[in-house]
Amino acid sequence: MPFVTAREMLTAARAGKYAIGAFNAENMEMVQAIIAGAQEMRAPVMIQTTPGTLKYADPMIFAGMVSRLAAAAKVPVALHLDHGNSFELAEYCVKQGYTSVMIDGSLLPFEENVALSRRVVEMAGELPVEAELGTVGGKEDGHSAGVAYTDPQQAEEFVRRTGICSFAPAIGTAHGVYKAEPKLDLGRLGEIAERVSNPLVLHGTSGVPDETVRECIRRGVSKVNYATDLSITFTNAAKAYIAENPNAFDPKKYLGAARAAVTSRVCELIRVCGSDGKA
Ligand code: 13P
Repeated sequence: MPFVTAREMLTAARAGKYAIGAFNAENMEMVQAIIAGAQEMRAPVMIQTTPGTLKYADPMIFAGMVSRLAAAAKVPVALHLDHGNSFELAEYCVKQGYTSVMIDGSLLPFEENVALSRRVVEMAGELPVEAELGTVGGKEDGHSAGVAYTDPQQAEEFVRRTGICSFAPAIGTAHGVYKAEPKLDLGRLGEIAERVSNPLVLHGTSGVPDETVRECIRRGVSKVNYATDLSITFTNAAKAYIAENPNAFDPKKYLGAARAAVTSRVCELIRVCGSDGKA
């Protein structure tokens, strides 16, 4: 399959009332695991990386790995910059071969967020851009924020003026590990979906009950982001392997165990998204 942009995937998902699983990768094994899970489930899939991940490993590395693996894959695979924190990083990722970018100006005043998002849309040309209005809470890449719910009317204006492809509203989710079950404002999500026909993105999904995720999808979410869940799955499997095999020293052994665990988890999460069988 050619390496694809997310626009077609996301538009088909919104029309079909399912969501594309967008999984954060931190290394080669997670990239392999996400693609393996998507192939097993016959699902289109997005792989995404945060600025923190890209400080650790240049976008060139992820673009190289994902583009070659995508070309050999049996399902559509897209590569997305998650929470892009500057115009320059978004532009660099596009140049390296990312197929979509998010620009996160959610902490800026409204007009500045509009201007930055618009500028990234113009730079990205054919490639789809995601942006956020309101703030998803929690900790992402070491930055903490409280939840600031998105105003539906402002959301409509934001999407119209920026020309973005997909829109991330804040409806009560937070990045990272929840201390208590999150209370999502599903009514607000429905109102936003009535005003904004673009694909909507659910951030901070790790720890949100599966049934709540399904309800969000019924109400217009077409991209569901999972990061913390996969990092925990990966690390727990590596730790368990080392605990059971204290004399192991070959990284392929414990990283292989971690990779297999992430593949299984990706399959489960793709079922929650309802994108299984859609490729
Ligand atoms: P979680 O880490 O809560 O899954 O959030 C992922 C996310 O929204 C990435 O943008």
